[in-house]
Amino acid sequence: MNLEVHLVLRPLGTPTHDNFGLVESKVPGLQVGEILVENEYISVDPYLRGQMDDIDSYIEPFALDKVMGGDAVGRVIASDHPEYSVGEYVAHMLGWRKYAVIRPDDWAKPGEVGEEAINLLRKVDPELAPASAFIGVLGMPGLTAYAGILYVGAVKPTDVVFVSGAAGAVGSLAGQIAKQRGAMVIGSAGSDEKVRLLTHEFGFDSAFNYKNEAPADAIARLAPEGIDVYFDNVGGDHLEAALAAMRRFGRVVCCGYISSYNESETPPGPRNFWNVLDQEVTIRGILVPNHYDKWDAFYREVGPWIRDGRVQYRETVFEGLENAVDAFLGLFTGANIGKMLVKI
Ligand SMILES: NC(=O)c1ccc[n+]([C@@H]2O[C@H](COP(=O)([O-])OP(=O)(O)OC[C@H]3O[C@@H](n4cnc5c(N)ncnc54)[C@H](OP(=O)(O)O)[C@@H]3O)[C@@H](O)[C@H]2O)c1
Repeated sequence: MNLEVHLVLRPLGTPTHDNFGLVESKVPGLQVGEILVENEYISVDPYLRGQMDDIDSYIEPFALDKVMGGDAVGRVIASDHPEYSVGEYVAHMLGWRKYAVIRPDDWAKPGEVGEEAINLLRKVDPELAPASAFIGVLGMPGLTAYAGILYVGAVKPTDVVFVSGAAGAVGSLAGQIAKQRGAMVIGSAGSDEKVRLLTHEFGFDSAFNYKNEAPADAIARLAPEGIDVYFDNVGGDHLEAALAAMRRFGRVVCCGYISSYNESETPPGPRNFWNVLDQEVTIRGILVPNHYDKWDAFYREVGPWIRDGRVQYRETVFEGLENAVDAFLGLFTGANIGKMLVKI
């Protein structure tokens, strides 16, 4: 029997348990060219909140009474495809369910880019890291950090880099990649425990708890000469504070705006936008599927850093599909350190 989490009601503001339903279903029989995957971990991600709304976006909204999608990783337990053997692990996008039936020939492969590549099927290399890492530090969030820091932000050794949401999946790797590049790195996070982790384990030069100190005050204290790159996971007061501190030819990597994902009204933009003009700042967004041509380079460069411990990663794991909703809601209260996952 399969177990799935469905979207049953579109949320207004912050989602609750009422928006989801746990549903049992039959696992369909395997057709020609298909594989059956038993998921071991599913990923819950902030961007899924956007897909719960029926809005026009680069990514299709979830249908009501259908399974919540997103990254998952599991073991092939039956195969009618010559390139996939029983026992191999794959990462896919079929989301919050125990079993997934996949026709590999219909899926995008690493190297393809753009919206069509969102439904990506990747084989897991067990030599590199445990399977869960392939939907976390070596998965979509990891690639976002890599492409955001090295390509969009074009971080240089002389840069001062500020990363918000720094103890999360993307932020913790973004800051560490900037450190590997030789930059000075400041992080913000929502608890003293996370701040300590950033400076004592992830190698950030400094960090602050934005719940105890306004971002503008903290950046002025920690980077009195200003910053060159802001990797934005949060938006709101963080973005405004970063713009105020921007040095000449600074860069802003627009990665995410989690502080407003549950707002029903779009919040006003930064009041000091003119600093972009004053300091000749470049602001550029990142949509990670448009960087899916970089998987190989990412594995080659970041894989060894993970393996030899130069780059650290954390996972917060909820047990059981019945706790997937709590894990997802926990993203908006800061319940995770590193990648938020659900073990099936
Ligand atoms: N553009 C892309 O292609 C792309 C790809 C992946 C992710 N993203 C974005 O990147 C960001 C990070 O994603 P992730 O997967 O790494 O999630 P994450 O950082 O692992 O988890 C979310 C974190 O956001 C923080 N947060 C929640 N509400 C907040 C608020 N109101 N103000 C400030 N911080 C808040 C919480 O940490 P604290 O305890 O520190 O508050 C929470 O742990 C998200 O905005 C996501 O949408 C974008």
